[in-house]
Amino acid sequence: MFRLTRYYNWLIFSIINPALKERLPLYVQGKLLDIGCGEKPYLEMASPYVTGHIGIDRWDTYSDKSNIDIFSTAYEIPCKNESFDSVLCTDVLEHLKEPGLALAEAYRILKPGGFGIYTVPLFWHLHEEPYDYYRFTRYGLKYLFEKNGFEVVEIKALSGFCAAFGQELAYFLNGLRKGGKLNPLWWIIPPFVHLVQGAAYLLNKIDLTERFSVEYIAVIKKPSK
Ligand SMILES: C[S@@+](CC[C@H](N)C(=O)[O-])C[C@H]1O[C@@H](n2cnc3c(N)ncnc32)[C@H](O)[C@@H]1O
Repeated sequence: MFRLTRYYNWLIFSIINPALKERLPLYVQGKLLDIGCGEKPYLEMASPYVTGHIGIDRWDTYSDKSNIDIFSTAYEIPCKNESFDSVLCTDVLEHLKEPGLALAEAYRILKPGGFGIYTVPLFWHLHEEPYDYYRFTRYGLKYLFEKNGFEVVEIKALSGFCAAFGQELAYFLNGLRKGGKLNPLWWIIPPFVHLVQGAAYLLNKIDLTERFSVEYIAVIKKPSK
């Protein structure tokens, strides 16, 4: 998912951001590794709780590179064992051909007792192609985390059907705004998209049918020694 907020993706960030804001103070501390950090959108949100926020991403990322500290893949992080207190990894696992290998690497660099916070899509359109390999269910996530040695503290669905449908409708409609300002849809679509997202946001308060969730947020822990 593209983290930069645009008028047509306001909904997803109004759902993900509070979920992260609630959990960062509980689970991150010390030196934080942001795996697949992109533009490091949670730098400011995490800053009160950490002493360092190191971002790694691949050299050929589609994201702006100015906030990336280490150019490397999630499979071979050039850092010593147990050198980070916390891990953050937002909307990256779906882009990894081998998500299990990346989790094993996160386990290696994390100190015992340290926590990781992951956000992962269940329903989301293709993006960052061709590097878009998977969508995850809570069962697949639990399996992958536990297989790689982590304890699962929490896996929570962040939305129901209305938010998933409303967000995808917003992206679809925005895609019809082709040809610039001469296309009447250029003008008509944005207010409609605002309306769709606003309604979906409100409906998301009452409809949290997990099986249609846009995303999960997961908190995992490397067991203490
Ligand atoms: C959807 S973006 C999310 C970026 C950021 N975490 C955020 O929340 O805005 C996915 C990110 O994963 C990165 N990525 C993809 N494959 C990767 C890999 N093998 N190793 C490290 N990062 C990778 C991409 O370059 C991109 O920055």
